[in-house]
Amino acid sequence: SNFPDNFTMQHSPLKIGHRGASGYCPENTMASYYKAIELGADFLEVDIHLSKDGILVVHHDSTLDRTTNGKGNLRDYTVAELKELDAGSWFHARFKDERVPLLSEILENFRSEVGILIEIKHPSLYPGIEKKLAEELSKREDYTSDKKRILVHSFDMESMKRFHQLMPDIPVGVLIKRRISDQKLKEIAEFASFLNPKQTILSTKLQMRIQEQGMKVFTWTVNNKKQIHMLKKMKLDGIISDFPDYFID
Ligand code: G3P
Ligand code: CA
Repeated sequence: SNFPDNFTMQHSPLKIGHRGASGYCPENTMASYYKAIELGADFLEVDIHLSKDGILVVHHDSTLDRTTNGKGNLRDYTVAELKELDAGSWFHARFKDERVPLLSEILENFRSEVGILIEIKHPSLYPGIEKKLAEELSKREDYTSDKKRILVHSFDMESMKRFHQLMPDIPVGVLIKRRISDQKLKEIAEFASFLNPKQTILSTKLQMRIQEQGMKVFTWTVNNKKQIHMLKKMKLDGIISDFPDYFID
């Protein structure tokens, strides 16, 4: 595992703002990320896709309908077209000026302040997205000094394997929703530094099985203070929540 040990130990668990502070602000917007930092998150979780013109953009769904006033597939829109959309009003009228952020904007604004956990969404829709991400991360000047603060994960294990080959210094993780065999865990541990099971399938036993393979253990999405407290006691390495203020005891 290339996960920096002293880094997780200092923070333990890493407090990760899910799509920012999406309990308080429209998910995956600048407002949501500023809020997550204000509330003390160690990491911002950022979902990424590719626009029609091949730019990495931050959004959760592969379609625009739920969280913007656009319609249809995000990948059919250029960045110029996406930037005209209102990505905040669906949550509350006061967020009407929020726009779909680019990954580059997130990196430029927040990279020096907080860690960024990037999720590649539906990589099978976007052939080459791993390379785009590697290029985007590599061109930052602070990459060598601050590289520990970027993590990448996905539900798609093959995508994470590809990304790991391109940027072996950046820790990658695999998200899972269902029970997993030891054989599969072993396969994942060959390239991944952390596993990120959905909270509903997490148990002490699963935690141990993951740790036995040398991987860190994260979980998502925990929006209940008591559960966060319990998970802290279990010494999880990272917890993802819509409410980063719930981490404070
Ligand atoms: O960080 C884990 C979580 O974000 C994965 O699910 O749908 O919220 O992206 P989703
Ligand atoms: Ca996500």
